Amino acid sequence: MNMAHRLLCRSPVWERRCVQRVVPWVVDGVDSRGSALEIGPGYGANIAALRAYFDEVAVVEIDPVLAAGLEARHPGLAVTNADGANLPMPEKTYDTVTNFTMLHHVPTTKQQDSVFDEAFRVLRPGGVLAGCDTLDSISMRVLHVGDVFNPLDVNTLRDRLGRAGFTDVDLECRGGQVRMRAVRPHDGTAPSRCP
Ligand SMILES: C[S@@+](CC[C@H](N)C(=O)[O-])C[C@H]1O[C@@H](n2cnc3c(N)ncnc32)[C@H](O)[C@@H]1O
Repeated sequence: MNMAHRLLCRSPVWERRCVQRVVPWVVDGVDSRGSALEIGPGYGANIAALRAYFDEVAVVEIDPVLAAGLEARHPGLAVTNADGANLPMPEKTYDTVTNFTMLHHVPTTKQQDSVFDEAFRVLRPGGVLAGCDTLDSISMRVLHVGDVFNPLDVNTLRDRLGRAGFTDVDLECRGGQVRMRAVRPHDGTAPSRCP
């Protein structure tokens, strides 16, 4: 992340926005029982709200310094320093996988698809991927100067989630963000996956 991001993502203003608006929008209607995994928590702006909502929360962060900071600031939180595109967790571990404003920091479409594949793999059958991400705009391009900016294309997102094996894909665009919902179907009901 560039310096502008580092300042923004650790600011009280950002955390307030996440707690009051973003997390409620993303988890609205999602079953709060069981365990949730957040991919790419950064400075942890969503963590308190997620821990208040879900029975159990774990996070996976690719940046080792940020991961260590989360461990220090959130006692008892299961923090793994790893790539969301190559998760070390066993399959069918979580009831929900969340991602907030992190996919546009994943450099290639192929790697983003691997994040979807991995989210699918670690979800229990019936589990839900619930996330949101920033869409392309001039202001977002400016904010990401000197940083990775690979925004999602909403026109292809449904098919990409489908190729990962998800069903019941629901997309909603609001305020320059897309919210995504997708279900790992129960075993025996999955559509055949593309090679
Ligand atoms: C813009 S920050 C968003 C942080 C947080 N989700 C929030 O809403 O405040 C993006 C975060 O995703 C992390 N990230 C990027 N690629 C990742 C990957 N492949 N696996 C796990 N984390 C990743 C970055 O290190 C960074 O902490």
